[in-house]
Amino acid sequence: MFPIHRNRRLRTNESIRSLVRETTISPNDFMFPMFVAEGKGVEVPLGSMPGLFRRSIDLTVKEVKELWSLGIKAVNIYVKVDDKLKDNAGKEAWNKDGLMQQTIRAIKDAVPGMIVMPDVALDPYSIYGHDGIVENGLIVNDATVDALTLMSVSHADAGADFVAPSDMMDGRVHAIRKALEESGHHDVGIMSYSAKYASSFYGPFRDALDSAPGFGDKKTYQMDYANRIEAIKEALHDVEEGADIVMVKPGMAYLDIVREVKNAVNVPVAVYQVSGEYAMVKAAAERGWLDHDKIMIEQLHCIKRAGADIISTYFAKEAAIILNR
Ligand code: PBG
Repeated sequence: MFPIHRNRRLRTNESIRSLVRETTISPNDFMFPMFVAEGKGVEVPLGSMPGLFRRSIDLTVKEVKELWSLGIKAVNIYVKVDDKLKDNAGKEAWNKDGLMQQTIRAIKDAVPGMIVMPDVALDPYSIYGHDGIVENGLIVNDATVDALTLMSVSHADAGADFVAPSDMMDGRVHAIRKALEESGHHDVGIMSYSAKYASSFYGPFRDALDSAPGFGDKKTYQMDYANRIEAIKEALHDVEEGADIVMVKPGMAYLDIVREVKNAVNVPVAVYQVSGEYAMVKAAAERGWLDHDKIMIEQLHCIKRAGADIISTYFAKEAAIILNR
């Protein structure tokens, strides 16, 4: 009761604030999503994601070394697949010499300690830009899961530490776990995009990979943004099926979901602060409407406070530089 309690005593100066601070962030919390393209010496700026690039493997490796020196321990890899390699089944996805497989090998060769988490989903390989195989205008679940298991094992063969299925097909975590065990990849983990919403915040990402769906939307597999309880169901199913880490995606607009999932599961929770969230901050900062660095650091704290153990964020490098000062 006032004046016995004056809450402002704990806010008097930065020293006491830092002593009682409940949430801290460090480069150890971050994963950095990277876009990889064919070629050599290629570095294409991403129009809707200022400050980021699509890079060939050689320059990706160079960047990974820099991330490692900043204390970042994990990267998420997405590839831009040549149109002529795309089909409905996504066969290129499990080509042992495909762009993803080469990228994984190159990163693990150069920086063995870096945790490499390739994206597992068919959309960059699909002529339809969907995360699954299309039959009669529908995304078929079980045939897609078979494809995703082949893809996951080929990523593990190439040296991936974790595979990260982002497709939202039912039963894929169990099928992937089983296939990894059967192929001897006992220590390769699964980070499942468990509560992944059908979100318009993914727009800039789809620009970066030229992977927007050719027809319809992703609402028959990604979650309805109006739903909360369903996220818990998804996360619990994935843990039961063998997910080592579950993810909630997008981030800022979904922090209630992050907390619900965090309270429901006994595995680490990752949060993906997605492309549209990044683009919004960049755009407002370019106009001088927001203080870029302060907003970035605030948002990362908020995501962690909500329950994130790991944050996949395009701000990872910039934030690490600030946090290392
Ligand atoms: C594809 C995938 C997407 C993202 C990650 N993996 C796009 C989508 O589902 O359409 C989005 C990430 C971002 O927006 O930063 N399976």
